[in-house]
Amino acid sequence: MSTLAAVNRDAHIHYLHPNRLPWREAVDDEERDFLSRALVGAQGQEAKAVAYLYKELSQLAELEMHVSAVLVRVLCELQGEPAALYGEGSELYHALSCFAAEEINHANTFYRYVRELSGRDIKLTDNLFKERIGLFAKDDSPMVKLAALCATAYVGESLITVFERRIKMLDPEQRFFFTKLLHYHGLDEARHIQSDHFVFDHIIPNLSSSERMRMHELIDATEALNTELAIRSAAQIKTAFGTDYSSDNHSAAVQLKLATAFRRIVQSGDLVVKVDNGLDPETAAEIADFSGLQRVHN
Ligand SMILES: [Fe+2]
Ligand SMILES: [Fe+2]
Repeated sequence: MSTLAAVNRDAHIHYLHPNRLPWREAVDDEERDFLSRALVGAQGQEAKAVAYLYKELSQLAELEMHVSAVLVRVLCELQGEPAALYGEGSELYHALSCFAAEEINHANTFYRYVRELSGRDIKLTDNLFKERIGLFAKDDSPMVKLAALCATAYVGESLITVFERRIKMLDPEQRFFFTKLLHYHGLDEARHIQSDHFVFDHIIPNLSSSERMRMHELIDATEALNTELAIRSAAQIKTAFGTDYSSDNHSAAVQLKLATAFRRIVQSGDLVVKVDNGLDPETAAEIADFSGLQRVHN
């Protein structure tokens, strides 16, 4: 069985679907106390923890909707490509289809979670979707688009892997809803990471040098729009909740540092570099301290 087929062999057994979560447990005082301690790093900071989660998870949902949409686009465009390219057994088709379906389920789940948690329904209406999808609507080869998309998704997927491990370290028996949510999400994300690594190992090295340059341009443009999305989302949520959720917030500080480090690593070569191959000792120590992880990915 090829690498890609093996990645998704059990995707129908170990996966996140919003219906499988115990939603009645999502909000109670104990849960909110856990979020305050686990995220902000102090007791009595429930409101800050909820606003922080609202911003990060709704923004993540927006990114996941974009990933899903671009993957579907790549799949459609690949129909015109020579079948020889991983076409045998349609493994690439299957892998990208699973990936796209899982991301839209994640977006659905995360938006539902922050609505339940906060009792509010705030959409990130200024989500730059037209601009972000527009980058992938041009005449580039679908493999260039796939490579750029995976390289940008990979940063967020690596980051949430670290957070999932932190929350599991603090709640090893998975008593809390948030831990369960991240656990199920992580089942899918582990496969996405493996698919990303497949793209980095087997697809990007086969791109021409001009295609790789174009891939890096697309990564830069996507990251720039994602950064703008983050700035606008932060402003919207801070105003809506009337709190600066990022001040004196341990998780927000670590998140910012790791996101910057991971982005730099990914683009630190002509090919795309995996995070564990580019970690400096100081960042590695910070990850170990925060999450117990010696490596981000296995
Ligand atoms: Fe996801
Ligand atoms: Fe993912």
